Amino acid sequence: MKEKIIVTGACGQIGSELTVALREQWGNEAVIATDVKTPEGELADGPFAHFDVLDRDRLGALIQQHKPTQVYHLAAMLSATAEKYPLKGWQLNMDSLLYLLEAAVEANIRKVFFPSSIGAFGSHTPKDQTPQYTTMDPSTVYGISKLAGEGWCQYYFEKRGLDIRSVRYPGLISYKTLPGGGTTDYAIDIFYQALQKGNYTSFLSADTPLPMMYMPDAIKGTLQLMEAPADQLTVRTSYNFAGFTFTPDQLAQAIQQHIPSFTIQYEPDYRQAIADSWPSSIDDSFARKEWGWQPGYSLEDMVADMLKNIRAKTATNTY
Ligand code: SER
Repeated sequence: MKEKIIVTGACGQIGSELTVALREQWGNEAVIATDVKTPEGELADGPFAHFDVLDRDRLGALIQQHKPTQVYHLAAMLSATAEKYPLKGWQLNMDSLLYLLEAAVEANIRKVFFPSSIGAFGSHTPKDQTPQYTTMDPSTVYGISKLAGEGWCQYYFEKRGLDIRSVRYPGLISYKTLPGGGTTDYAIDIFYQALQKGNYTSFLSADTPLPMMYMPDAIKGTLQLMEAPADQLTVRTSYNFAGFTFTPDQLAQAIQQHIPSFTIQYEPDYRQAIADSWPSSIDDSFARKEWGWQPGYSLEDMVADMLKNIRAKTATNTY
């Protein structure tokens, strides 16, 4: 079957890499990147449409023009920013999803992807090896919107027959595009500061463990889920999805293996409370069993690869 794919939020941290991966898989012309930002780098090499996901008419026009078979709805406001702009965060994350779900049913779009997050869990969720089905009481606007989004995904699957699939991403670590306004952003910033200044001030405390994943694994898993036969998937809210867990102290030690003089200090801010409400590690056995998920990168592999790539990027000054 010939695919035509629309990606929203394509200029974001996930979108900028997922769009390129989708183009490698389906061909450049098959994947339309959309965003309110202007695409840069390799993302600019394929079709692009300016699209504010709250513009429902524009969504209808894009669907009519491109007749997509799949949509990856990545546009969202992350956890830390949404705490600053709660109503805006809710509106962006929720309204855009509902517009898309309705449009997808109407236009018979074959498959939709919705990113959920470890942020959908809360302080009464078991922290270690958090199960697929468990207490979810998010305390952030972002988390509430993701949990509600999961519920809508299941609703549209069950009541409207939409094949919508989702994972709960852990903190994602990447070097191509910076994340914007997440609680896990420290784990990226630390690499730039380590290379540029040899020192980092962490906004999370030394012993805050969080589930994390290296972007190549996140892309691989997302494509794997979207290619899995529909009848193998029993989770229609969102799949637990795990890479590895580390604390800021453990990450700093892993960086010190490469840069022995690197130093770190800790000044926790409002994001500490957000991190404290999230799990430490995730049980992703449903993903492993139902669509063959297996991460490829360890913490050490990720750190070596991040340092190598950020060094190269800094040398050519392309960030
Ligand atoms: N990385 C995201 C955040 O920190 C979690 O999904 O907001």
